Amino acid sequence: MNAEGRTRLDQLPEWSALAEHRKALGDAHLRELFANDPERASRFTLQVGDLHVDYSKNLVTDETLRLLRELASATGVTALRDAMFRGHKINTTENRAVLHTALRAPRSAVITVDGEDVVPEVHAVLTKMSVFADRIRARDWHGHTGMPIKNIVNIGIGGSDLGPAMAYEALRAYTDRGLVFRFVSNVDGADLHEAVRDLDPAETLFIVASKTFTTIETITNAVSAREWLLSGLGAGEEAVAKHFVAVSTAAEKVAEFGINTDNMFEFWDWVGGRYSYDSAIGLSLMIAIGPDCFREMLAGFHLVDEHFTTAPPEQNVPLLLGLLGVWYGDFHDAQAHAVLPYSHYLSKFTAYLQQLDMESNGKSVDREGEPVRWQTGPVVWGTPGTNGQHAYYQLLHQGTKLIPADLIGFAKPVDDLRPGLVAQHDLLMANLFAQGQALAFGKTPEEVAAEGVPAELVPHKTFQGNRPTTTILAAELSPSVLGQLIALYEHKVFVQGAIWNIDSFDQWGVELGKVLAKRVEPALTEGAEVPGLDASTARLVATYRSLRGR
Ligand code: F6P
Repeated sequence: MNAEGRTRLDQLPEWSALAEHRKALGDAHLRELFANDPERASRFTLQVGDLHVDYSKNLVTDETLRLLRELASATGVTALRDAMFRGHKINTTENRAVLHTALRAPRSAVITVDGEDVVPEVHAVLTKMSVFADRIRARDWHGHTGMPIKNIVNIGIGGSDLGPAMAYEALRAYTDRGLVFRFVSNVDGADLHEAVRDLDPAETLFIVASKTFTTIETITNAVSAREWLLSGLGAGEEAVAKHFVAVSTAAEKVAEFGINTDNMFEFWDWVGGRYSYDSAIGLSLMIAIGPDCFREMLAGFHLVDEHFTTAPPEQNVPLLLGLLGVWYGDFHDAQAHAVLPYSHYLSKFTAYLQQLDMESNGKSVDREGEPVRWQTGPVVWGTPGTNGQHAYYQLLHQGTKLIPADLIGFAKPVDDLRPGLVAQHDLLMANLFAQGQALAFGKTPEEVAAEGVPAELVPHKTFQGNRPTTTILAAELSPSVLGQLIALYEHKVFVQGAIWNIDSFDQWGVELGKVLAKRVEPALTEGAEVPGLDASTARLVATYRSLRGR
């Protein structure tokens, strides 16, 4: 029992039942599970919206799934889900509602926070964004010298960068190819330098995206961008209004920076940074793909929200994916989870998910502040499929670690590929299917020997198999499908946080580094004494200064 009178997760009978079941299953192999159940592939496949989710290659039986659903029920996942969708302040350490789902709610919905319906504001901001995006897309937003804007540079970091940058890549085929988009996040000046070096300031718009408008990387880059702009134009502060807009929750700070708040696109403290790209943080994306496609993407998110709140547990895909993660992390000692998209357009997808998952569930105390005695969020990693195959898949196939993976692919390539390139698509997808197959079923020593392989090489060429994957397939990577995919992972992360009894919506773990960087910086620049600096860091600082010739 913890301080709230809640039975500790690892003391629940449902937890012990899973531990027992894990022992009983032992090393049951996917080869046997499939051989004993001809219907396994069809029974262990679910559909949500356009996403076809095959989880048959996971190390589970019907009994495993039943016990996992019982754990979800015992830990109150459904009640917490309903509280989130209703706007209750489930982010307890920050006393905030968690309402990214309101960002894609239809106009007719009513969702209240502190007694106020937030849906009309959401739609008002979407309309303001649409008007602005349409003007840029029509080349009808002119810079200080009268030239139409055609370069858009988003300056932001974390959730104010990863979402729009990822979705811009994902939906390239839907973008206005006559506009140039760049995304600057790193406080390393090289990032901004490379982003703007070939741009004409007269045609360039900066979107400064920051929920708090205090993030040091973003504000530093925004100040440098302003200098670049004004010196390039040979103009004074009056030029800022036509070349800078802001996306933020902090109007006063935006005004202090010198951006006209008429050119500010608002969002709210009930939208977490890593859950924000379907808010005004997606302004750069909306300019790229247009308001109609952006709304299609929101509809995709909403579709999965509806599924998550209404589908029965046996068919609830985010619930299932969350439970599979708990099964591997807590009952198989898996430390990592790979996300392997077989789509070049999803090259930033896993990096986006890293923040979503690891900033949300990288926690080691529960909601009551007690240390957790079970594993929480995994290390999420991965890159597009075929490239990974020639890099790290060796470890996935024959290494000593269990790394469950998601394989994501699409039946159709994007419309504007040349016919020769379209033909490559089947080869790409053949790789996805082959990897899932090899990871699950491997190759036995007998099979290897039967190929005439010399005895001493048989162990090296044997694939143990039994490496779990979930395959997610859709017809094509459309704006709606992207929204569906992201909402699926958002809710998966939610389910896991709910079971582990952690606050998935704060991120105190990133604060200490920020504070220490501020303290150390004067030591680097001015050689200032930093009280209490440890010996290792002090020596590194001294070495740095001498290498810089200071
Ligand atoms: O890294 C911490 C964090 O607060 C993230 O959660 C957030 O997405 C990022 O910094 C950027 O914050 P902001 O949008 O306030 O600049």
